[in-house]
Amino acid sequence: MSERDFRDVRVRVAENRFISGKLWFMRLEPLGSVPKPKAGQFLMLEVSSTYDPMGRRAFAIADYDDKSLWIYYDVVGRGTGLMSLFREGKEVRAFLPLGKGLFNYEGDRHLLIGGGVGLAGLTLLGKELRTLGKEVVFVYGAKSKEHLGMLEWLKREGFEYILYTDDGSVGRRGYVVEALRDFGKDWQISACGPYPMLKALYSQAKKTGHRLYLSLESRMACGWGVCLGCVIKSSEGKFLRVCYEGPVFNAESVRL
Ligand SMILES: Cc1cc2nc3c(=O)[nH]c(=O)nc-3n(C[C@H](O)[C@H](O)[C@H](O)COP(=O)(O)OP(=O)(O)OC[C@H]3O[C@@H](n4cnc5c(N)ncnc54)[C@H](O)[C@@H]3O)c2cc1C
Ligand code: FES
Repeated sequence: MSERDFRDVRVRVAENRFISGKLWFMRLEPLGSVPKPKAGQFLMLEVSSTYDPMGRRAFAIADYDDKSLWIYYDVVGRGTGLMSLFREGKEVRAFLPLGKGLFNYEGDRHLLIGGGVGLAGLTLLGKELRTLGKEVVFVYGAKSKEHLGMLEWLKREGFEYILYTDDGSVGRRGYVVEALRDFGKDWQISACGPYPMLKALYSQAKKTGHRLYLSLESRMACGWGVCLGCVIKSSEGKFLRVCYEGPVFNAESVRL
């Protein structure tokens, strides 16, 4: 059983707007005190008060301000479809903040690689690293221009970034994994995105010798370590709960 150091709070929808592609942005105001989230942590949001669909849905805490927590979400199924219908003022429950396995801050130069909405798992890290005086470059890739909706956040925050699209509609044509060629081994890599992207990064980082930390996604039912629905295997064959031992892991320590 896991130690419960998160809250189950009511949150009020303060903003919910479509950006582009499948991407939406939601700002949530917790109605009660919650611990300050750390980079890599996530929340489990109640998307329905019925059993259709069952369970809460996991979203990276992408950013926060004095009153609210921000999430970016892709509408991919029933739960996220219902979220896109939430009106301002709606109240739902959320577990937060969740996740104990977080990023590594060693080294002075950090390349943060996000695939699609996976960038939301890296934004707080970028801010924390910058506060520590580290050099930070974001690499952001997706199928095409309209799937790079988090560019608004990168621009507003003034981060240096490199864009990749599969179809070349903006930035470099190709895949984010190619960015590793342009950055020496002194750059530590943190990445979040679809599994094929993370696997490709892992094999490339093995060749280039970069240190790599991955924020993983897995189907989650509870989000706090009790249901074992999200387990993956460590490189030694032991079970790891993505929600509890993760979601961030040293790429060498897990089997992808
Ligand atoms: C720690 C964590 C952080 C996450 N952060 C974000 C985020 O910031 N923004 C965001 O848009 N999404 C994020 N996700 C994924 C998000 O939880 C799912 O997209 C969401 O639960 C889908 O709910 P649904 O009911 O709309 O889709 P469903 O109807 O349940 O499924 C629709 C499709 O999405 C796939 N899917 C569902 N859940 C997941 C999952 N957990 N991982 C991968 N594929 C999934 C299914 O296989 C299916 O193909 C995160 C997941 C985890 C575990
Ligand atoms: S989601 Fe229940 S243990 Fe991870």
